[in-house]
Amino acid sequence: MTLTVVCGGFWGDEGKGKILSYLALSDNPAIVVRAGVGTNAGHTIEFENREYKLRMIPSGFINPSIRLLIGAGVLVDPKVLFKELDETKTHDRFGVDYQSGIIEKKHIELDSSNGHLKGKIGTTGSGTGPANVDRALRKLKVARDIPELKPYLTDVSVEVNDALDLGLKVQAEGSQAILLSLFHGSYPYVTSKDTSAAAICSDIGVGPTRVSDVVVVLKSFVTRVGTGDLPGELPMDEVKKRGWTEYGAVTGRPRRAAPFNYELAKKAVRLNGATQIAVTKFDIIFPEIAKANDINQIKGDAEDFINKIEDETKVKVAFIGTGPSAEDIIDLREHI
Ligand code: IMP
Ligand code: MG
Repeated sequence: MTLTVVCGGFWGDEGKGKILSYLALSDNPAIVVRAGVGTNAGHTIEFENREYKLRMIPSGFINPSIRLLIGAGVLVDPKVLFKELDETKTHDRFGVDYQSGIIEKKHIELDSSNGHLKGKIGTTGSGTGPANVDRALRKLKVARDIPELKPYLTDVSVEVNDALDLGLKVQAEGSQAILLSLFHGSYPYVTSKDTSAAAICSDIGVGPTRVSDVVVVLKSFVTRVGTGDLPGELPMDEVKKRGWTEYGAVTGRPRRAAPFNYELAKKAVRLNGATQIAVTKFDIIFPEIAKANDINQIKGDAEDFINKIEDETKVKVAFIGTGPSAEDIIDLREHI
């Protein structure tokens, strides 16, 4: 079985898009399938000197042989989806599940208006929370109700399970991250459903016995957008001084930041059942290793950091991100 599940370990924006785009090139999977909440996610992919910020199309699109799917659990905003289909020119290899939920204008308005969730929780305003409310009330439209989506409709669970039966590789792309989970995260400052590896399986219609690897993505420092506690949070001028300044891919809000947190990393590993860790933005902490592809370039403090992550979590670091581009990575899988 070759189903790899990629999920976020902190509060999102760990660089899942970067890891997924690398895996799409290196492992050449037959399918990359998007799980997670919906358009509240923004996955940044840099490839061949172009940057994409995608909210719907799976990050694996940079490999032109991959079939791209969106699972039934995911909320689709048709407007965002069609824009990204045009941008990525992936119409001929894209499919969306018959039962993926549909975000409508009213959901976005509810999410964004004053006194609603955007003010209280600091949501992304993308409509995902109110849409999941309507889904629970059994009054949400689903993809099969939208005529424009007809050419793309498919049964994602069947496609994914059939591919696995044939021994083909499948990658499942989580969104958000475990500390934003409605069940396991920093409630009430969380997103509108579970975001664990188990939820990712549920989103795409595969059973947990089919998973080969769970990759938890941990950034070299912790960031958070929106409201809620961030342990060890640094003042913004210190964040800037350290070169950790980032802006939300969906909202453009500056991200709050704190140093790497081993307790949170352990929690992420436990709640997701991680078999591998990807550490991203390592070059931000250790500029001398920028764009490295060879583990022998990781020495001194940088090596100690990786060793400490492994000692604390008891899970091996399989990938180290060394720059924004899909190819800026050290792949350690052959060593573990
Ligand atoms: P919602 O998911 O838009 O309802 O927002 C709920 C909380 O999750 C807010 O704190 C958002 O900033 C956060 N959030 C949702 N999606 C992401 C993401 O993809 N990256 C980072 N934070 C997110
Ligand atoms: Mg993001």
